[in-house]
Amino acid sequence: MRCKLVILSLLLMISVRLSAQSLSKTKLEAKVDSVLSLMTLEEKIGQMVQYSASWDVTGPPTAGNENRLENLKRGLVGSMLNVTGVKATKEAQRLNMENSRLKIPLIFGYDVIHGYKTLFPIPLGESASWDLDIMERTARAAARESAAAGIGWTFAPMVDVSRDARWGRIMEGAGEDPFLVAKIGVARVKGFQTDDLTSPTAIAACAKHFAGYGFAEAGRDYNTVNLGMSELHNTILPPFKAAADAGVLTFMNSFNEIDGIPSTGNPYLQREILKEEWNYKGFIVSDWGSISEMIAHGVAENHKEAAYIALTAGSDMDMEGNAYETSIEDLIKEGRVSETLVDDAVKRILRVKFQLGLFDDPYKYCDAKAEKKELYSKENQQLSLEAGKKSIVLLKNENALLPIASKVKTIAVIGPLADDNDSPLGNWRGQGVSNSAVSVLEGIRRYAPKGTKVTYAKGADLSIGERSFLKHMTINETDTSGFGKAVETAKEADLVILVVGEDAFQTGEARSQTDIGFAGVQDELIKVVYKANSNVVMVLMNGRPMDISWSAANIPTILESWLLGSQHGNAVAEVLFGKYNPSGKLPVSFPRSVGQEPLYYNQKNTGRPGPIEDVTYSHYVDERRDALYPFGYGLSYTTFKYDNISLSASSFSEGEPLTVTVSVTNTGKLDGEEVVQLYLRDLVASTTRPIKELKGFEKVFIKAGETKKVIFTIDRELLSFYTRNKKWEAESGDFKVFVGGNSVDVLEASFKYKNE
Ligand code: BGC
Repeated sequence: MRCKLVILSLLLMISVRLSAQSLSKTKLEAKVDSVLSLMTLEEKIGQMVQYSASWDVTGPPTAGNENRLENLKRGLVGSMLNVTGVKATKEAQRLNMENSRLKIPLIFGYDVIHGYKTLFPIPLGESASWDLDIMERTARAAARESAAAGIGWTFAPMVDVSRDARWGRIMEGAGEDPFLVAKIGVARVKGFQTDDLTSPTAIAACAKHFAGYGFAEAGRDYNTVNLGMSELHNTILPPFKAAADAGVLTFMNSFNEIDGIPSTGNPYLQREILKEEWNYKGFIVSDWGSISEMIAHGVAENHKEAAYIALTAGSDMDMEGNAYETSIEDLIKEGRVSETLVDDAVKRILRVKFQLGLFDDPYKYCDAKAEKKELYSKENQQLSLEAGKKSIVLLKNENALLPIASKVKTIAVIGPLADDNDSPLGNWRGQGVSNSAVSVLEGIRRYAPKGTKVTYAKGADLSIGERSFLKHMTINETDTSGFGKAVETAKEADLVILVVGEDAFQTGEARSQTDIGFAGVQDELIKVVYKANSNVVMVLMNGRPMDISWSAANIPTILESWLLGSQHGNAVAEVLFGKYNPSGKLPVSFPRSVGQEPLYYNQKNTGRPGPIEDVTYSHYVDERRDALYPFGYGLSYTTFKYDNISLSASSFSEGEPLTVTVSVTNTGKLDGEEVVQLYLRDLVASTTRPIKELKGFEKVFIKAGETKKVIFTIDRELLSFYTRNKKWEAESGDFKVFVGGNSVDVLEASFKYKNE
């Protein structure tokens, strides 16, 4: 025993001298192996356990948690989530370091989804910027704040492709397209982790939810997922693969089943694909309780069977499942699982701790000075503003109501969300302080030119009573007593800014909806205000694509502002007053009706694409089948013209990529940014292929009157997909290439690819 402790101390001394970054892979593996060799089975299982901090580690443990505190002190806990702040994380780490035998540092995880204290736009909103640089920078800032507050691991980015507006968690992802989701996921991973994991500001990222969670049937959260191999490989897995290739340190599995097998207990996903085929070396944490939830799924009789299924399938860490800590030892004693499986999981967890430099300094994230300096800094507020304005999408601008003209002397700001300081923070708000965001009204007051009168009427409440992450919210369905004042205020103004949409707690986890229109009395409010004054700019605040059909047909101007975080109102005001020319594009299709969901641009053609005169083609008889506002769509205060699409050749084969060139001219009077998008279609393939697939994009700044050439390269990899042979390959044949400012209005050309 003494001898082992001496070896451990020596080992820790060596690790202090060598920064984990400079460790070669073999050295890293040697360190991991030597720590593992010192561990008892109980300690190994402990590393695979993650507790939440709903108990007080700094004071006497709350009833029922004494055991957990004891486990922490004995080194039988590998990670905790929801412990935040230097004081609390330091204390929990101290209890572990000062009492446990091997002193293996804890890693503290937290849902830093779009910011820790400074909130940036919700991920879906920020994805509308199509600006990978800003997304990397906001992830970086969120990591700096978290790292300064004791957190070494974020459960982000969510890279679930999601196409169903009914699913509340659509707000947490990057939309409906696997190519875009992959690019954004990688940018966020880079921002969280940086190139130097040992840096005190770098934290581990987590690609979640592996896999298929965004495809919950009927958009109902946690629901069954049924999909085929082609969809799994071509649509769902690419963003995860991209994150793994980018070095994401951890994965989280998901609550859902696919084809009868819960993902948490799915060896095909976790072992075969992730750990073997992709050679992934990080670890997989379960989703909250998802191991024990296999009992409710009906594939495990009890915790022990759930632990058996999850462990053999490749889940490495049990988040609040109470399955691993209670069962693995027995499973090994009974000879049902080999200790090598446990060793593999523990090595993965230790590896990440070494990579982050936690063995060098377990208190690496516990710097009280940094905590004071980093959180909610001026720089982060500025960055939040920048990200906010880039995320806004101009959906409609009839009569050029925007940017607000100088002749507008009275602006009426109306709506239940107009002076809401809380909803912009979103549902996953980290340590964001309630009511700390800038409201739209406040932003307008700040940015309105001198002499402009700004009036306000709420019109109606959107919700009644308490709103919170875990509780149901009550919508105001009846009280219209504020309508009179709203109408009067609208009548007296030159322009109305009508701020409507969703409360923060209408979107996010467990916020599935069958109705994606305006909740409560908002529809009525929109109509009475519009009747009083038709010069209406609708500012939408929401976390999902909504059914805004009536407004799209009637209201002259619509601005999609999502939930933009701390600086929401300032970002909106900069766009309203023309200080920033909007450049966002939708990362999700906006439907005409909830009945179209799931709706996405990259659909299949079907055998009956139509349209034909008879009814017998794939469509609805009561609604169009296309989107109201399609994927990739968004206007600017200027206009862009696309022409001269040309290809470097009419055919190509491996080793000699093809280039596509297009001219984009700013034909308006203002400078602006445009997201130039490249789509492909594989006309005949071994499996059915989407009618269009995003395969490239570039955000370009073009001065008024100027023309820019944009060049894309198409290579074999871009044409590859998961074919009928069950592997990724490019097939010979005819392709169409499309370039445009959204997924519908495009220029088109053709080429052949020869797989030689
Ligand atoms: C969510 C995860 C999250 C976890 C920890 C779960 O309910 O699905 O995305 O990371 O809780 O808070």
